[in-house]
Amino acid sequence: MTPAVPHRVIYDTDPGVDDAMALYYALAHPDIDVVGVTTTFGNVTVAQAARNALYLLAIAGRSRVPVTQGVAAPLVKVGEAPPDHIHGADGLGNLPQRVATDNRLDARNSAQFIVDMARRHPGEITVVAVGPLGNLALALALEPALPRLLRKVVVMGGAVLEPGNVSPVAEANIWNDPHAADLVFTAGFDLTMVGLDVTHQVILPVRLFAQIAQHHQHLATDTLHHAVAFYANFYSGLYPHVAQIYGCFGHDVLAFVALTNPELFGSETGRVRVAVDGLAQGQTMLRRKDIAYPQSGWGPGLPDTRVCTQVQAQACKDLIERTLLSRWLDV
Ligand code: BDR
Ligand code: CA
Repeated sequence: MTPAVPHRVIYDTDPGVDDAMALYYALAHPDIDVVGVTTTFGNVTVAQAARNALYLLAIAGRSRVPVTQGVAAPLVKVGEAPPDHIHGADGLGNLPQRVATDNRLDARNSAQFIVDMARRHPGEITVVAVGPLGNLALALALEPALPRLLRKVVVMGGAVLEPGNVSPVAEANIWNDPHAADLVFTAGFDLTMVGLDVTHQVILPVRLFAQIAQHHQHLATDTLHHAVAFYANFYSGLYPHVAQIYGCFGHDVLAFVALTNPELFGSETGRVRVAVDGLAQGQTMLRRKDIAYPQSGWGPGLPDTRVCTQVQAQACKDLIERTLLSRWLDV
């Protein structure tokens, strides 16, 4: 169903191949208006994330979307080197070359941009956050009323039923800044978590991106195809069932799908906390409503998160395909 007014989205991201895929889904989708892109460290350094966001927007003809640079490291723990083997040293599958572009960063840092937009448009802005959550955590420190000023937050991160992807229990975005994640999950946002429980069920084949590139004959979709092929080599080397398809998980794009088409997801609602240290560091834990846990840390004051636990995988793939094949470039 088409909403009367498109979702006005700040996209908080660490591009990253699946981040690029998600950005292009958002730009292509008629129900999403990307009002800013805020960047963070994660798949690459924050400087590279900002360069990639500017580049991806410019080659898609969307240079006027503001881009900010945000946090460079986790709030508390020591940061790690970016995973070059997954996203490439440049975050986009080691592009052989880049064309010259002339869009420039907005001078504000990402947290300030989020706060400014939320204050200027109270109750209207949704943040779709698909990297470590330091920008949102800092924005909360700048403006404690942020949960009331934002319309929604959708996070790609975490796992409650599925094993982790960087430790037996931790998903990468939460692992990369568990303190920031725990602040975000306990702040009181209208919050949806799109984690590995659902993203590991949607495998997107490289041939889909070849088809999209063939259809558009455009630098933006050629770039995405190149990046996805690199990313798919990593995932296909790791998981035999992904290799059979020669594809990859679309992780971040699923956060936007959950925004535009929540009916494609099943969910459980309850309090979520993040383990900030120890062996389980980065684990997201969901307190189910029907069990009374006596431990401290699960008090009644905590807000609920809608945790996506089921997904209609084929319908998501069809939607992503339809959206990226639609007429969205240079219009
Ligand atoms: C998440 O981690 C990053 O590598 C991806 O871009 C995605 O946001 C998946 O665990
Ligand atoms: Ca990401």
